Amino acid sequence: MWYELTEEQEMIRESARDFAQRELIQDVIERDAKAEFPTAHVEKLKELGFFGIITDEKYGGTGMDYISYVMAIEEFAKVDSSVAVILSVHNSLAVAGIERYGNEAQKEKYLPQMVSGEKIGAFLLSEPEAGSDASMQRTTAEEKDDHYLINGTKNWITNANSGGIYLVVAQTHPEKRHKGINAFIVEKDTPGITLGPHEDKMGMRSSDTHSVMFTDVKVPKENRIGEDGFGFKFAMSMLDSGRISIAAQALGIAEGAYERALQYSKERKAFGVEINKHQVIAFKLAEMKTRIEAARGFVMKAAWEKQNGKNYSMTSAMAKYYAAETAMFVTTEAVQIHGGYGYVKEYHVERLMREAKLTQIYEGTSEIQKLVISRTILNE
Ligand code: CAA
Repeated sequence: MWYELTEEQEMIRESARDFAQRELIQDVIERDAKAEFPTAHVEKLKELGFFGIITDEKYGGTGMDYISYVMAIEEFAKVDSSVAVILSVHNSLAVAGIERYGNEAQKEKYLPQMVSGEKIGAFLLSEPEAGSDASMQRTTAEEKDDHYLINGTKNWITNANSGGIYLVVAQTHPEKRHKGINAFIVEKDTPGITLGPHEDKMGMRSSDTHSVMFTDVKVPKENRIGEDGFGFKFAMSMLDSGRISIAAQALGIAEGAYERALQYSKERKAFGVEINKHQVIAFKLAEMKTRIEAARGFVMKAAWEKQNGKNYSMTSAMAKYYAAETAMFVTTEAVQIHGGYGYVKEYHVERLMREAKLTQIYEGTSEIQKLVISRTILNE
């Protein structure tokens, strides 16, 4: 497989790049400091169609391919990963979850309001005691006459407050373990749902992350996704594709830091010459660029496999693992190249380094990605 971008793919990338470099850049440092949700930017992104970028036009989406989508995420993440993750969770996990596995009635009811951005989506899988071990769901969905009753707590939920539609994973038949888990479409304003405080995160501070508590939350039976017991496979399958966009995000973070370090190395002088004339800096740049291009290869391969109906489970784990490690490596080196300037907010690279760390943790830690990869190769 090799790729050449189509005119349309280039156009989407340009549009995302333009928005990031002209608009997001202006207040990204301030929003990060205040941990402020990017409301005004999100409104513009809705108008530009980014909340329905990969959804079928039949439901009001723009119907773009996965390669265009991941390149858009990459461009946003070069400047502002909070915006990238808001879009990523909404599109890859929530909207795509309903479009891929929902029935026609669910799609017709929920997709139009989500792709317009009227209702942002969130994905509620993690719990205080079910992070990496996602099958250990303590949240219960008890089956009643015409509804389920949900009780429990979800943790680290992106778009918890800004979101309006939740995809909630919960245990219905504990004796069946992962085969007893279900997934539901839950409207955020359903009685019994309360939010914990905004998490004061190290990075990606302007995306809203909260715990979500469910107390006797009544969800109509028709809101269950798929057959009884499909919830765990649903979550695993959605994470496979979600991980490609997190990999794209990590790639964007790495590129953002690299571009700043390269520029700085051309401007800053030490010992009488620009610092990139010193081999110690030139070699750092060479290593950074090489790892970025390798990560891009993984991201594009995974997106291409998804787009073309191949099995992309292992490639998406490889892409997520490698791109996140690259983001951490590159941002750390970018801070080092900037010296003391790298450690202050004005130069952006310290923020990118904080953002990079999260890509090694969410939608499965680097260790979980290695678990997915090793299980696949050992079972081949
Ligand atoms: N697609 C479909 N089905 C899958 C699958 C996949 N990718 N992976 C596994 N399954 C199925 C298996 O086939 C198996 O089915 P059967 O019982 O019918 O054979 C079943 O699921 C159980 O599989 P495993 O035994 O492999 O499951 P496990 O309990 O060992 O867990 C795991 C595997 C990979 C560790 C998984 O728990 C995992 O991915 N953990 C990480 C969770 C995670 O990424 N959380 C992120 C939260 S979301 C988030 O961060 C969003 C945000 O806000 C940013």
